[in-house]
Amino acid sequence: MNIRLSTGKEIPVEMHKVRIVQKTSLPPVEERLKAIKEGGYNTFALRTKDIFIDMLTDSGTNAMSDNQLAAMMVSDDAYAGSESFYKLARVIEDVLGFRYVLPTHQGRAAEHLLAKVFIKPGDIIPMNYHFTTTKAHIELVGGQVLEIYADEALKTQSTHPFKGNLDIQKLKDTIKKYGASKIPFVRMEATTNLLGGQPFSIENLKEVKRVCSEYNIPLVVDGSLISENAYFIKIREKEYKNKSIQEIIKEIMSFADLFYLSARKSSCVRGGFIATNNKKFYEEIKPWLPVYEGFLTYGGMSTKEIEAMAVGLREMTDISVAGSAAEQVKYFAERFIEYGIPVVTPPGGLACHVDAMMFLPHIPQSQYPAGALAAAIYIVSGVRSMERGTISMDRDQDGNEVYSDLELARLAVPRRVYTVSHIEYVVDRLHWLYQHRDMVKGLKFIEEPPVLRFFFGKLEPLDNWGSKLGETFKKEIGAQ
Ligand code: F0G
Repeated sequence: MNIRLSTGKEIPVEMHKVRIVQKTSLPPVEERLKAIKEGGYNTFALRTKDIFIDMLTDSGTNAMSDNQLAAMMVSDDAYAGSESFYKLARVIEDVLGFRYVLPTHQGRAAEHLLAKVFIKPGDIIPMNYHFTTTKAHIELVGGQVLEIYADEALKTQSTHPFKGNLDIQKLKDTIKKYGASKIPFVRMEATTNLLGGQPFSIENLKEVKRVCSEYNIPLVVDGSLISENAYFIKIREKEYKNKSIQEIIKEIMSFADLFYLSARKSSCVRGGFIATNNKKFYEEIKPWLPVYEGFLTYGGMSTKEIEAMAVGLREMTDISVAGSAAEQVKYFAERFIEYGIPVVTPPGGLACHVDAMMFLPHIPQSQYPAGALAAAIYIVSGVRSMERGTISMDRDQDGNEVYSDLELARLAVPRRVYTVSHIEYVVDRLHWLYQHRDMVKGLKFIEEPPVLRFFFGKLEPLDNWGSKLGETFKKEIGAQ
């Protein structure tokens, strides 16, 4: 919760007590240099023993609540018919309003099933923005992602409260151009991860649904960050100021024909599911569930995870949980802005995103500025961020580089894990890096996988800039 101090400054005060802790350590700069070199300048390849503060992602790294942990102790282990599943199904009906549930082992598994069942080669999937795994699954079955965001969405420095909105006119034009029969569904991501966790408004969602209904096109909502999107609606969309997070989530759901999520984010547990009130859709997907995931009542999750998810889904409707990451992200962004460090604004849902093209304007996209920035951040701080730029895009079918709309280094804020002093440390080290940004140069691939290359790709710093940066850091700041 944001609390105003007597000085007038607002800080995000954690609305929880930390009872279980995990030790962390700060490896000296020489070790960090060795680790990033061994990892091919890819932060995915780092081991957590070499990381001080892990801001790679908020996925599967959130702190569970005491009630979630307690629920895991009473799970009902069964291959079929587990009561834990029925408990989850009841919560999904209560919190989200859907009768039919298809559990999956995580979000991308839900995407795989939706792509397999609904998309034919040549189909077009309009959406407010893609996520890496979504795009991969759509393309693997021959579909094409079409992003029809409003122009404001790509402006990293903006005050637009809903950069995750879909452009309604472009949606109408797309349907006219391709025909509704080529569009198996329209997808809205809450919030748009790769645009910097930017939400859509209910006003926009309502319009999207109206157009979809006119052409009988189903609307799919990816709700991996649904509680954050609802939180932003509450604080940014006037009409919803006095509504609860639960009421807002229910209203969002009332427009969705199909809903899926990665439970690893908002509900703080490994897993995922697809939910719907459309029996026909449910019956179409159901036969494939045991083929790819597991039986209908576990879908690749353990029953312990299912129990924890049921609790996590209710807890994400608590405003202090829904806003916990968003408020830390806002604090983070404001502190960066005080130092002139370019970050995505307005601050989004899951992470503070540094604009690498502005931070490192001397590095062309062909030399991966966001990847270079993520590696440099690690060298000077032991903090792990994630490249969200051109490395996260795969080459096209002819092998050409596809330049990303944005080049971002994402500093994710896992829910309830880090405190304001951790954030202050990160801000300080990035401030130092910003003053030495000319030392950071580009990267080039030395090993490049054919799909989702950002996971396992290996790169090399041009002109050995990593070691030079590390040495300068050591001289000016010390080994740590
Ligand atoms: N959709 C969105 C919007 C996501 O952010 C993610 C995962 C997925 C789908 C896939 O879900 O990981 O459970 O298979 N985002 C993670 C991230 C990986 O780091 O932002 P998953």
